[in-house]
Amino acid sequence: MKRRDFLSSLLSLIIFIVSGKLLLDFLGFRLKKSHKIRILRDEVTENPRIKEGVIYFRDRDGLHILSGRCTHLGCIVEFDEKSGIFKCPCHGSEYALDGSVIKGPARKRLKKLDYIVDGNIILTAVD
Ligand code: FES
Repeated sequence: MKRRDFLSSLLSLIIFIVSGKLLLDFLGFRLKKSHKIRILRDEVTENPRIKEGVIYFRDRDGLHILSGRCTHLGCIVEFDEKSGIFKCPCHGSEYALDGSVIKGPARKRLKKLDYIVDGNIILTAVD
């Protein structure tokens, strides 16, 4: 192999590796990007509501913000007012108000989300 061919191949390999790394970094960034949600404090009642995949309600213990994404395969749960629990419409998992699993196939509880209160606005983020 001539020196010129070797350098050309080496340069091609470096470009391939660097572009692959940049692509993976970009995709990783896109996948990890979280979705910010704004909730007005006036919207928060004792009846759980779900907005853009975020569950919010208050009780005597305070404000509760949970991810509404089922931990089985990621469907968004619904609140069943009659039974007072969250039910997943996809495969039937059920969660208590605190997010703990009542019935599978889900095994993990609904994720508690961090949030900040800024005046009348509650800011949180969900994946
Ligand atoms: S995605 Fe919720 S039970 Fe399967």
